[in-house]
Amino acid sequence: MDQNNQQLKSFWDGRVDKELEREKSDPRKQVHTDLIWREIQRCIGQSTCLTILDAGAGTGRFSIPLAEKGHRVFHLDISPKMLEVAKEKAREQGITSIEFFQGSVDDLSCFENNSFDLVLCLDSPLSFCYATYEKALSELVRVMKPRAKLVLCVMNRTGVITEGGVNFDLEHFGTAKTSINSFSKLARVSPG
Ligand SMILES: C[S@@+](CC[C@H](N)C(=O)[O-])C[C@H]1O[C@@H](n2cnc3c(N)ncnc32)[C@H](O)[C@@H]1O
Repeated sequence: MDQNNQQLKSFWDGRVDKELEREKSDPRKQVHTDLIWREIQRCIGQSTCLTILDAGAGTGRFSIPLAEKGHRVFHLDISPKMLEVAKEKAREQGITSIEFFQGSVDDLSCFENNSFDLVLCLDSPLSFCYATYEKALSELVRVMKPRAKLVLCVMNRTGVITEGGVNFDLEHFGTAKTSINSFSKLARVSPG
């Protein structure tokens, strides 16, 4: 694991309680959750039993309810502590159609090409990839089946500063074109 990913792992391991608290009681997070659900529902439509990758899935905010609805979900995260919490939540809810993987979104080599009907990468994993964001994007696209859907959510820098990621984020500032480039690249790779 490279140095940036080691830093990410420690940073997110230390943020589990904060994330759980935000999910429980921060109204901004709740609005965010509702908006993302709207997008996920739009992608799923009436489909049942989809194979879904949630890359950087955290405490299972989306992966667990999706598994609960009967989809086969692959939950990947860089942080062992986030994975522990998500596994415990899934266990408590008796959910078995979810598999957990520790790893980074910029290396999805544990998954074959064309594996997933829907790929999610929500609320910042891609934003923290910095130098490897192109690799991460191409990995996310590689594992999608033809005509699969990808829901991406990137974070702006004000969020990073106010919410405490600034210590290791500062050295990577200066690539403000990231999200524009990312989206134009995606549009070329996966129209529609
Ligand atoms: C703010 S949480 C969002 C979790 C989930 N996607 C959601 O929307 O609820 C960010 C998550 O991304 C994970 N993460 C950050 N960088 C990552 C990377 N390069 N690869 C995989 N997971 C990553 C963190 O460990 C953390 O669990």
